[in-house]
Amino acid sequence: MHRGHLSCIKAVGLMKVFLTRRIPQEGMKILEAARDCEVSKWDSDEPVPRAELLKGVQGAHGLLCLLSDKIDTEVLDAAGPNLKVISTMSVGFDHMALDEIKKRGIRVGYTPDVLTDATAELTVALLLATARRLPEGVEEVKNGGWSSWKPLWLCGYSLSGSTVGVIGLGRIGMAIAQRLVPFGVKRLLYSGRTAKAHAAEVNGEFVPLETLVAESDFIVVSCSLTPETQGLCDKAFFSKMKKTAILVNSSRGAVVNQEDLYDALKSGQIAAAGLDVTTPEPLPTNHPLLTLKNCVVLPHIGSASYTTRGIMSALSAQNLLGGLQGSDMPSELSF
Ligand code: NDP
Ligand code: DGY
Repeated sequence: MHRGHLSCIKAVGLMKVFLTRRIPQEGMKILEAARDCEVSKWDSDEPVPRAELLKGVQGAHGLLCLLSDKIDTEVLDAAGPNLKVISTMSVGFDHMALDEIKKRGIRVGYTPDVLTDATAELTVALLLATARRLPEGVEEVKNGGWSSWKPLWLCGYSLSGSTVGVIGLGRIGMAIAQRLVPFGVKRLLYSGRTAKAHAAEVNGEFVPLETLVAESDFIVVSCSLTPETQGLCDKAFFSKMKKTAILVNSSRGAVVNQEDLYDALKSGQIAAAGLDVTTPEPLPTNHPLLTLKNCVVLPHIGSASYTTRGIMSALSAQNLLGGLQGSDMPSELSF
């Protein structure tokens, strides 16, 4: 495994910043140009080990982290009273102990909107790959399983005329719906805590979760991970789905109970699942879900386009500097 090391980018300056990973150059350039901070980073493409995070953050005024860094009381204590701002290069913030962060008056920056299109594109790609069995088809071409054109071979499920249910019609859920409707989707259902005015644009029907689960041919999970959504897709949930229905999750792995999902897929309780997110990440290569042909698993690549990651990096750096300087942050989380 590649090991990183701590490196100091600029030795002069007033405020200390710790970066938990190498980030795309768009953000690095912004930080390097900032005259009032001294930046040290975990100089690796791999996550910072916990001990190095606890060491690196000591005395920091600013912390730039990723979704794989658990920012809890221990990290906040290690940082100490200087810490003014935490900037995460993600829109999800379930890795941060917000109650504790709030108590300490620390500001938080995140990266909403700029990754919405990339994540919606990937989710649609995953849905189509799962529904039309693309990984299986590619594999058959390579392994000689393609003997001839056969009427029922590798048949899957069509979006045209289907009912799609989106759990969490937020920024990404809405962008997914906008992309799916032109495929000829007949009904677009959605569930969440509140009805959304923007749903009118996709003729979205706000329905109770039970209705969405029972009536959808495709269920797309795009809600945030909260205590309420943790384990939402469990045995009871799968037992209410149509046997021909497909689950796609691009939110957070913990929204799905993976043991229950395995049973539902294995027994034919549901047709297939596409996951961009899992618990844990990475999913161990011997995980039972990876033995199933009707489960397509991607390595959390929703926002992984070059332009998007560059913009996320720049936005995280700007958020960090805004917080350090006590001025506006382009995307500050209110909590
Ligand atoms: P938003 O805040 O815009 O949307 C989140 C949605 O979750 C809201 O519509 C909210 O609905 C809904 N929600 C909250 N609680 C519930 C609930 N109990 N039941 C159903 N819905 C609920 O965030 P984004 O759309 O920008 O991002 C959503 C999530 O996607 C992120 O939190 C992150 O975890 C994940 N993500 C994953 C990526 C990937 O690479 N796979 C990339 C980017 C994001 P309401 O307003 O009614 O509460
Ligand atoms: C996020 O931003 O929360 C995603 O999971 C990665 O882009």
